[in-house]
Amino acid sequence: MNTFHAMTDHSVTDFKPRPAMSGFRAHFPRLMLGAFAAMSFVAPAWAGDVTLGKEKAVTCAGCHGAQGIGLSGEFPNLAGQQEAYLVKQLMAFKTGSRQDPTMNAMAASLSEADIRNLAAYYASLSGFMPTAVASTDVTAPTGPANPALFPQPVFVTLKKAGAVTAFPGENVWSGGPDMLYNALTPDGKTLLATSPSTGSVYVFDAATGKQRAVIRVGKAPKGVKIMPDGRFAYVSNEGSDEISVIDLAALKVVDTIPVEKAPHNVRFTRDGRIGYVTLQGGAGIGVIDTRARKMTRVIPVPGITGPHNIDLSADENTAYVRDFVHHVAVLDLKNGTVKKVITVGNGHGGIDVAPNGRYVATAAIGDNVISVIDTRDLSVRNVTVGKGPHGIRASADSRWIYVTLTQENAVAVVDAKTLTVTQKIPVGAFPFWVAVPGNS
Ligand code: HEC
Repeated sequence: MNTFHAMTDHSVTDFKPRPAMSGFRAHFPRLMLGAFAAMSFVAPAWAGDVTLGKEKAVTCAGCHGAQGIGLSGEFPNLAGQQEAYLVKQLMAFKTGSRQDPTMNAMAASLSEADIRNLAAYYASLSGFMPTAVASTDVTAPTGPANPALFPQPVFVTLKKAGAVTAFPGENVWSGGPDMLYNALTPDGKTLLATSPSTGSVYVFDAATGKQRAVIRVGKAPKGVKIMPDGRFAYVSNEGSDEISVIDLAALKVVDTIPVEKAPHNVRFTRDGRIGYVTLQGGAGIGVIDTRARKMTRVIPVPGITGPHNIDLSADENTAYVRDFVHHVAVLDLKNGTVKKVITVGNGHGGIDVAPNGRYVATAAIGDNVISVIDTRDLSVRNVTVGKGPHGIRASADSRWIYVTLTQENAVAVVDAKTLTVTQKIPVGAFPFWVAVPGNS
């Protein structure tokens, strides 16, 4: 691999994406030109189609990861790689000039168009990972939200202000008493927020902040999560040990799923078939069959205290479970074993696997740090962000990490590349949770 990557460096610099045909040829031995000519590389056909590439990439995900980040050390990352380089390597595997039994077999069945589409797709993904050493110096500028840090609108609940603030414009929409957890529909049009003291869910139009409905659910609703198809929301009623299922077209509760003590929050698989619910009363993680609307089993999570929030790895085989105290359990969902218990900051908080699958970020309300876990080796870096961090979510491109600072009445934006606070934005009282489009 090393020799290969050394070679890569030249190819990439000499190599210009899109229609640089002469550069492309210059890098291939003469005997291969025949093969290329036969495949008729013509300039207009050069541009790959990201959508078609994404479809084709399902066959690659088993090794290179659903987001182009290799599932283990032997599988290279493809996300964010140069498009022209990817085309060149896939062609080399196809013609046999680069030898690897697996990839030679994989590439044999790919057409020239498939290769261009796959290359365009992987090049479009975000491939970075945190590299810098965490800084303890928080001297980030404070002031109105810098729109560049909010590539998409972000919604923060303000518990003590009973409101929601929408970034980057910082519009404030009043809701009910203590707006707690929130969630956005996949189309970005509707925002839901729970109010535990009134046992209700507030429904807002995400563009205008207009309240569309207030829906009564069970006792002390905490987490709210929307299914990937956008049709139903699951509300975890911590006080009545059940989940309310809200039909988002009818805006009413259509079902109630009994679970075990103190359900706190849910995470769905991408296909929407399974919901994993944290059972903070101690039982572990409840597995909900969303078709039957039943909890079918409970996976115990020994070694942690009160499963609080949860997110899944890119391949959905691993759950990262944040507890109430200062742990993250890495839970193998296939065999139900805890692979590792990681010590993080003190107090409960949110947890988020970045959409590119490369890191997990978790907050700690009793502390002044967030902890960022590298998903490959499970190493941890604590990043000082400010007092009382609780809600935490990465931007859809995994570039920024948004953190609510409950004790500073501010939202911090952490640069995921350098792991430093880029900006702190003062908001209303007790910012609790954050909803980010493309990372719900
Ligand atoms: C069974 C596992 C597996 C599958 C499936 C697989 N690959 Fe690979 N891939 C590998 C391995 C292993 C390597 C490293 C080969 C080497 O060491 O030269 C690799 C290397 C590559 C490289 C070269 C990366 C570099 O940095 O030079 C590309 C590009 C690539 N694969 C694309 C794909 C695409 C596209 C698919 C799906 C059509 C795919 N792979 C499916 C295992 C796999």
